[in-house]
Amino acid sequence: STERKFFVGGNWKMNGNKASIDVIVNNLNTADLSPETEVVVSPPACYLDYTSSRVDKKKIGVAAQNCYKAEKGAFTGDISPAMIKDNGCEWVILGHSERRHVFGESDQLIGEKVAFALSQGLSIIPCVGEKLEEREAGLTEEVVFRQTKAIADNVKDWSKVVIAYEPVWAIGTGKVATPAQAQEIHQRLRTWLSEKVNPAVAQNVRILYGGSVNAANCKELGTQPDIDGFLVGGASLKPEFVDIINARR
Ligand code: G3P
Repeated sequence: STERKFFVGGNWKMNGNKASIDVIVNNLNTADLSPETEVVVSPPACYLDYTSSRVDKKKIGVAAQNCYKAEKGAFTGDISPAMIKDNGCEWVILGHSERRHVFGESDQLIGEKVAFALSQGLSIIPCVGEKLEEREAGLTEEVVFRQTKAIADNVKDWSKVVIAYEPVWAIGTGKVATPAQAQEIHQRLRTWLSEKVNPAVAQNVRILYGGSVNAANCKELGTQPDIDGFLVGGASLKPEFVDIINARR
């Protein structure tokens, strides 16, 4: 785990405005952020330019929360990878649980987005994770591996991929996975990648945990051998995001 650079993403979801982004960005730009952590924030699409033109790019990257799988055209309401790059951003989150379960995105669509975003030169944070009823039915691994396969089948350059494991029951619920629960799935996912992709990819790819991460629980989670960072929702809007970035200090 030591050779994989710790990565902390802040997924702002559909929150904030210019005034609140000013507060978050000023806080991050002036904070003492561990140089051993790669930091990315993810504003709503309409604030990509506002955010990317204000963050200290030496310390902080910017991700879109979603994009479509075409260059341009009649896709009302959507944005392309080229638009994300044109707004000064290098990353896109794909297949977030809310895209899957609120907006009905399928494994197939997410796979196509993965392939297209990578082909356009973006780095990607594809997300996987089981729902509560799937965990209770003993289907966690089946679901996580199925979702990961739809992503992996569309990746050639793994250096541009950071996977996020976000158990749906832990997202926005305050019900964080225990360090042992998260480590177990991260380790099994890494083994799956070793067998189905190759051992070097499994060794090098960062697997983030997401779901109710906060300043109080990040240290124990962040020292698990197969947890290489976090994708943070609610707490990424607060000053404690800095403590999460510095979790390994
Ligand atoms: O993408 C991050 C996310 O889904 C976790 O949200 O609010 O539980 O940290 P939250």
